Amino acid sequence: MKATIRSIAECVGQVVTLEGWLYNSRITKKVAFLQVRDGTGIIQVIVGAADVAEDVFELARSLTQETSVRVTGLVNADPRSPIGYELRLSGLEVIARPAQEFPISPKEHGSDFLLNNRHLWLRSKRPHAILSIRAEVIRAIRDYFDDRGFTLVDAPIFTPNACEGTSTLFEVPYFDQTAYLSQSGQLYMEAAAMAFGKVYCFGPTFRAEKSKTRRHLTEFWMVEPEVAFLDLEGDMDLAEDFLCFVVQRVVERRRAELELLGRDVSVLEKVQKPFPRISHEAAVQMIREEGLEIDDRDDFGGEHETVLSKRYDRPILVHRYPAEVKAFYLKKDPEQPDRALCVDVLAPEGYGEIIGGGVREEDLDVLLSEINRHELDPAVFEWYLDLRRYGSVPHAGFGLGVERTVTWLCGLHHLRETIPFPRLINRLGP
Ligand code: 4AD
Ligand code: MG
Repeated sequence: MKATIRSIAECVGQVVTLEGWLYNSRITKKVAFLQVRDGTGIIQVIVGAADVAEDVFELARSLTQETSVRVTGLVNADPRSPIGYELRLSGLEVIARPAQEFPISPKEHGSDFLLNNRHLWLRSKRPHAILSIRAEVIRAIRDYFDDRGFTLVDAPIFTPNACEGTSTLFEVPYFDQTAYLSQSGQLYMEAAAMAFGKVYCFGPTFRAEKSKTRRHLTEFWMVEPEVAFLDLEGDMDLAEDFLCFVVQRVVERRRAELELLGRDVSVLEKVQKPFPRISHEAAVQMIREEGLEIDDRDDFGGEHETVLSKRYDRPILVHRYPAEVKAFYLKKDPEQPDRALCVDVLAPEGYGEIIGGGVREEDLDVLLSEINRHELDPAVFEWYLDLRRYGSVPHAGFGLGVERTVTWLCGLHHLRETIPFPRLINRLGP
């Protein structure tokens, strides 16, 4: 009977066959201890010289790391095993031996070497844990919106216009035109919100980030909800509720992976409502209290976000940034017209921004003058302006970056480990 390591508990006392790869081994005169992984887990397979034919024992002794194998044996419960079970081998089949020594051994390697070998590194415990957490985050995101009346609407990736400024656009030849890889699906979600009320898109987004930082990828995944008739308070409520759901889901379902990464799960358990809501103005004062320089009307840099978010044990909602440091589409606060009705969510422990969002300008003339002020081409925004010509309503939304969120949840230093194949200014492969 075929089995997987994840569900091995159901097979105690039975003889099963597992298909996988040799992760590690320890050989003594009388016993070979094989660590076999099958993608769902790692199990110790015990090959006793006295229990199997001599040629089977010799075969087991000869296996090198990442040999693909089919192992058959009896499943035993064993309290000493990290997973609680082991396999007593009775049959062994080698599917393929490695052409040469596997480049990644369980010992330490430099990060450049590992990234160059990302296609093989994925098999190690740490990437496996991080990417399992990423998959859980993505599933939680989908469940959250799907179960609350949001319709998934996919945004295009080839776009004719910028959404988040022209300095980070990737240009692509598009027959006799120029296309840009999408920086954000937001403008399309605004169109969709006028059709469906509550929508979200979820896909890869692209930014030609010219600096090397631990928070920027050139290709990253973003989920972007957009809701008609929503104000800034409602947008903050949504971001808060959504983040609590995602974090607690990961804590509930991926504790083992978090612990493998050395993450203190109790820190994540504290991520509960309400999150502090802080105006940009108040946040500037706090940054100065931490000893950093910042002007009243500055946007935050990485350092500013780090010191600010280190003060909290849960995410904070920073709202009403100076309008001039934010995107053209944001509505101004009627009570302070030099400030945008926007919110950034900063993850605690120094992780910084994971969400950016806000209320969209709904007035045609104001929006048009902002497009001109930002020196954007109004012609490519004609379709977007139509949304204000036909039944314009207040609406708001936000975008959450998956990799920054996973970086925080896993307690990592750099976000490059949170995406299967990272794309950075100096890395396009593998
Ligand atoms: O703050 P941003 O630029 O907001 C937008 O794109 C809005 N149009 C979203 C919306 O309202 N629908 O980006 C949103 C989030 C950031 O908070 C961050 O988590 C992530 O996207 N992000 C990046 N993640 C990795 N690498 C980069 N270069 C990123 N740029 C933004
Ligand atoms: Mg932002």
